[in-house]
Amino acid sequence: MGLCVVTGSNRGIGLELASQLVRRGDTVIAACRHSSPQLEALGVEVVDGIDVSDVAAASRLREHIGERKIDALINNAGVLHRDQLGKIDAGAVEDILLQFRINSLGPLLITQALLPCLADDARVGIVSSRMGSVADNTSGGYYGYRMSKAAANMVGASLARDLADRGVAVAVLHPGYVRTEMTGGGGDVDTNTAAAGLLARLDELDMSNSGGFWHANGEPLSW
Ligand SMILES: NC(=O)c1ccc[n+]([C@@H]2O[C@H](COP(=O)([O-])OP(=O)(O)OC[C@H]3O[C@@H](n4cnc5c(N)ncnc54)[C@H](OP(=O)(O)O)[C@@H]3O)[C@@H](O)[C@H]2O)c1
Repeated sequence: MGLCVVTGSNRGIGLELASQLVRRGDTVIAACRHSSPQLEALGVEVVDGIDVSDVAAASRLREHIGERKIDALINNAGVLHRDQLGKIDAGAVEDILLQFRINSLGPLLITQALLPCLADDARVGIVSSRMGSVADNTSGGYYGYRMSKAAANMVGASLARDLADRGVAVAVLHPGYVRTEMTGGGGDVDTNTAAAGLLARLDELDMSNSGGFWHANGEPLSW
């Protein structure tokens, strides 16, 4: 894809995205709050101090990129806090707001900050979750995470419309149920499979399918 920016790149799915991109010959700018030995080992360009919910950090990332043009921006950073109906106390409210700041506002703030850096035919991915799908919600719970990912989905839908004139295509993506720290190591697939699927979906993305919501395995998802 060329020059690719990945947020939340120090571990989990983001680390594997950076790894696969560099292995296939793309140039990676790996944004993260703090680097990791695994990320450093990739030999990619690491930009630390990038909390995606921080407007000033988003500006710093933009300044770091300078005049270079980004071919793919992957908004991957995210957080999950568990909550339970009947136990949503003041602490849980703070966790819900934090998820909204990171999972929903994060992709919006980072994409907005990097608008001047996006190539005319750039692709933007938002690693959301099918937990943010209203249609797919058959099990309830996870109020903060589900709400934040539903809002992230809406960010993707609006970005697709707003960036269409520039030829920038946007995809909302579910990586699968992936074995990472977020899931406590549980899951159906490893980060390798998830990242490969996410990159395949971005490779297929163009103006004809911009604004869609897909599982990493290629299945279209309902909003
Ligand atoms: N794993 C799954 O089954 C699954 C399913 C659906 C969707 N997802 C989504 O996939 C994405 C990656 O998740 P993962 O499974 O790889 O989780 P993970 O292993 O917990 O990694 C999360 C990543 O996000 C970063 N991050 C968290 N808050 C951040 C912030 N404020 N600013 C910048 N980076 C931040 C973390 O960095 P730190 O080390 O600094 O915390 C870490 O790099 C998330 O958006 C998640 O919601 C995952």
